[in-house]
Amino acid sequence: MCGIIGCTGGFDTAAVLLQGLSKLEYRGYDSAGIAVLCVDGIEVVKCRGRLSNLSELVSGKDFGDCPVGIGHTRWATHGEPNDINSHPHISRDGRFCVVHNGIIENYMEIRDGLMSQGYEFVSETDSEVIAHLLEFNFRGDVIQCLRETVSQLEGSYALGVLCREKPDMLYSARKDSPLVLGLTEKGGIIASDIPAILSHTRDIYIAEDGEIAAVGRDEIVFYDQLGNIMDKDAVHVDWEVDSAEKGGFEHFMLKEIHEEPSAVRATLGNDAFDHMEITKPDRIQIIACGTAYHAGVVGKYIIEETAGIPVEVEVASEYRYRNQIVGKNHLTIVISQSGETIDTLFAMRKAKKLGSRIIALVNVVGSSIAREADDVFYTRAGPEIAVASTKAYSTQLAAMYMLADKLSDGTIGSKTLADIPGMIERIISKREDIQRFASELFGGSSIFFIGRGLDFALSMEGSLKLKEISYIHSEAYAGGELKHGTIALIEEGTPVICSMTQPHLFSKMAGNVKEIQARGAKVLVITTEDLAEEAAKVADMVVTIPEIDPIYAPVTAVVPMQLFAYYCAVLRGCDVDKPRNLAKSVTVE
Ligand code: G6P
Repeated sequence: MCGIIGCTGGFDTAAVLLQGLSKLEYRGYDSAGIAVLCVDGIEVVKCRGRLSNLSELVSGKDFGDCPVGIGHTRWATHGEPNDINSHPHISRDGRFCVVHNGIIENYMEIRDGLMSQGYEFVSETDSEVIAHLLEFNFRGDVIQCLRETVSQLEGSYALGVLCREKPDMLYSARKDSPLVLGLTEKGGIIASDIPAILSHTRDIYIAEDGEIAAVGRDEIVFYDQLGNIMDKDAVHVDWEVDSAEKGGFEHFMLKEIHEEPSAVRATLGNDAFDHMEITKPDRIQIIACGTAYHAGVVGKYIIEETAGIPVEVEVASEYRYRNQIVGKNHLTIVISQSGETIDTLFAMRKAKKLGSRIIALVNVVGSSIAREADDVFYTRAGPEIAVASTKAYSTQLAAMYMLADKLSDGTIGSKTLADIPGMIERIISKREDIQRFASELFGGSSIFFIGRGLDFALSMEGSLKLKEISYIHSEAYAGGELKHGTIALIEEGTPVICSMTQPHLFSKMAGNVKEIQARGAKVLVITTEDLAEEAAKVADMVVTIPEIDPIYAPVTAVVPMQLFAYYCAVLRGCDVDKPRNLAKSVTVE
């Protein structure tokens, strides 16, 4: 989703903006732009398409001495991706220039009001209203003007603002869209997320809703909603700069799969649950989106199995708009890699308002969900750059096991958990087998994933991974549900990936495999070493994972699925790390 960068002070402004935008590319975007504030006004360069197009345009310019600038990668919501709709947007009189993440819900109303005052709009975006509204509200004091402007906006926003009257300042504001700030020896810097400024500073100020910041070369002044100057502490982020770089791997996704053993190890080292008082709840609800939702589905199986507590898992966007029945002794678990997914954030707020206690499993330190939850467990995956989530999922599962252990008074135990990183290493070392199977199956137009119990939960994630990066149509089905519809789609050569890691369901699954094979399916089975011989009797291809207590199987068995999706996407020539239409952090509804 859109990305913001801005800097002021002694930086090489255009270069820092372009470099920052390159760090935000992973969020997903379809156009990009920068604006610099120079002696003779604000200059904007923007265009549709990849950052390389923008870099080319910028390289032809001589910006001279321009100490302040803002940049943006846009993921289109209002208006198609084209040069005009790209950010930054400039006010009619050229005094203000704005980059915006989020959605201004009342932009039509504001636009009509401004048009009746003679303002003309050049773009189809909701964001352009902010630039003109700033001009309309300006009476000489930028902070006052920004306060008045944001008070008229409904919806979500993170803003970077330039004002011609203040040639060495940069301004920001936020509501429900992430924004971080930092102060370095060279000057102040803002961005929509941490990796974009990590090479400049590790001491990060996290903007809160309603706050406005005036960013100068030597200081950042924060204002609260009432316009009072406030004290704010920086959070120290100890992510390695390298962890946001590819480090010799062809893609971030492959690198992040290789980081799973260390990420899971780091997560297992987090003792945050030991410090949480958790009374056994009557019911648990898990709320999340995408891959995090799939981690929640696994969580449901393991918590119900080990702690005997009923668990419901719900997609956050659905949770928000239903009548929820939340009792006194209910616990809500919110799962989010970014901690900024807007549906998850709003669903969490709803659950909180209904009186539920919230425990959040979040990766990004200091993110909105982490801050607003009653308790937070950080998954310690480190920065995840590829849009397709891999190490975030396995660390979310690790956290789920730890929480299940806590809720079941130690039923799970830590012995097998500690073995998991080594098992993942072994699976990765056999990646060439998976690459070979991918090379046999990547041409399929549809690939199905089936499993039962925990294997079904896992199949949902395997299928999502494949479709999001390889664009192969894929669906996950419960093995027993196949014959109620999906089996009609199986024809000669249709690839089906079958997870068979659960011994008590093995013979049932073997029956399902026979049914689809009889109709021509090409079957790849993922199973444990001890079940491999049996699996070979029904499968066309077998991928084995180390023998493991079945309850833990998803956290290791997902790795071959991630690698399979990765190799299929590479073989199909897809942009693995930045799949079309997708965004890493979905900060709009
Ligand atoms: C987007 C990402 C997915 C992610 C989902 C939830 O769709 O592309 O990879 O699983 O958002 O994100 P979160 O940050 O809340 O885990």
